[in-house]
Amino acid sequence: MFSAWNFFLFGLLSASQSLAHHTPRSEHELEIQRGLQAAAYHCAPAVESFTASRKRAWAQRALAGNPNVPGYQQLFSSETYGDIADAPHNSPHNPHDSDDDETFMKCTPISDTHIQNNTCVLAPEVTEGPYYHDQGHPIRQNIAEYQDGLLLLLDIGVIDVEACKPLPNVLVDIWQANATGHYAGHPVPAPQFINEKPATTGLRKGLLPPFPRTLHAETFLRGAWPTDKNGVVQFTSIYPGYYTGRATHVHTKVFPEWQVNPENNTYKAGRLSHVGQFFFDEELNMVVDKMFPYFTNPIKDTIGRTRNTQDSLNIFADSHGPEGQYNPVFKVHLLGGVVSQGLVAYITMGVNASASYDNFLKG
Ligand SMILES: *[C@@H]1O[C@H](CO)[C@@H](O)[C@H](O)[C@H]1NC(C)=O
Ligand SMILES: *[C@@H]1O[C@H](CO)[C@@H](O)[C@H](O)[C@H]1NC(C)=O
Ligand SMILES: *[C@@H]1O[C@H](CO)[C@@H](O)[C@H](O)[C@H]1NC(C)=O
Ligand SMILES: *[C@@H]1O[C@H](CO)[C@@H](O)[C@H](O)[C@H]1NC(C)=O
Repeated sequence: MFSAWNFFLFGLLSASQSLAHHTPRSEHELEIQRGLQAAAYHCAPAVESFTASRKRAWAQRALAGNPNVPGYQQLFSSETYGDIADAPHNSPHNPHDSDDDETFMKCTPISDTHIQNNTCVLAPEVTEGPYYHDQGHPIRQNIAEYQDGLLLLLDIGVIDVEACKPLPNVLVDIWQANATGHYAGHPVPAPQFINEKPATTGLRKGLLPPFPRTLHAETFLRGAWPTDKNGVVQFTSIYPGYYTGRATHVHTKVFPEWQVNPENNTYKAGRLSHVGQFFFDEELNMVVDKMFPYFTNPIKDTIGRTRNTQDSLNIFADSHGPEGQYNPVFKVHLLGGVVSQGLVAYITMGVNASASYDNFLKG
């Protein structure tokens, strides 16, 4: 991502990538992951109906027979969290919500999707990226700001793997790189990290240290929004670009408890129950690689884009590992007739709503 850094990263990365598959996660982490995946398996039918009904909703609203890109104003509200009267947050689950969800799940026929086992359940991984932030992101659905790129609508379902039910009213925080691989707030590393080298051991092997934000005014491609009563949250964004060592991805955290900072419409983090990342199919990444402004990525002709299977954090490979199989890859549909008209990407996250993870990097 930082061109000056790419030169020394180049040599180190090839070494770390070949070793990445042999890097064990801690026993504790594996145990958590196994437990959650086991729990997620029995949710597969619930996830299937959850996804099917979301697809139908999309088809009705935007996709079927409409060759034009819908104005996303029509799809997603542009209001901020503060505009929503009596918006619920930070409260225990309302029993009425649970009733609704039960009805929602039971009434949805499983017909138009074919999901094998828990294919679309995203089990967690607890590895965070270096572009953290110690303050909560803006509470908003449209995170694109002025960033140039391919329109990407995200439809993220959250399901509690303990109850196999969609989770309403949890805050889903996402952040991602822009089309040329930069994160808001990190144009350069903080001075004390200028000479840092990627870690050579441990879970952060091949990665640079976490960089605190240096430009606090930048907020592009960062935002959080609570799930609705059906456990779904939608965002308007752009397709992420790539940077050194990482496959194209979107970060996420899920907070069952949080507070609003009304003065600046950001959130104050409470209990954290999930940290994860979403990926895209290689075939789609290859198509986007050729589009403007993605092909202007400064590392295009040097290191190039890291493939899913080469990801230095090994997240993609882990998802297909012996602990089970989960699928951290968005299912993507075209909004119009061609890719350049935009995409809608679905995923369902399996989270443990009662878990509490250490928010040590706060991002
Ligand atoms: C899903 O996969 C798990 C682990 O491989 C297996 O135990 C379970 O029986 C599978 N469930 C179905 C419905 O195939
Ligand atoms: C991505 O962000 C960086 C840093 O703010 C900026 O220099 C670059 O122009 C942005 N990329 C695009 C395609 O706008
Ligand atoms: C928003 O306001 C809160 C509470 O005053 C403060 O702690 C936080 O740093 C502010 N966030 C930003 C991004 O300014
Ligand atoms: C969910 O988290 C709770 C609290 O940490 C834990 O007791 C429980 O075993 C977890 N459930 C699964 C399926 O991992």
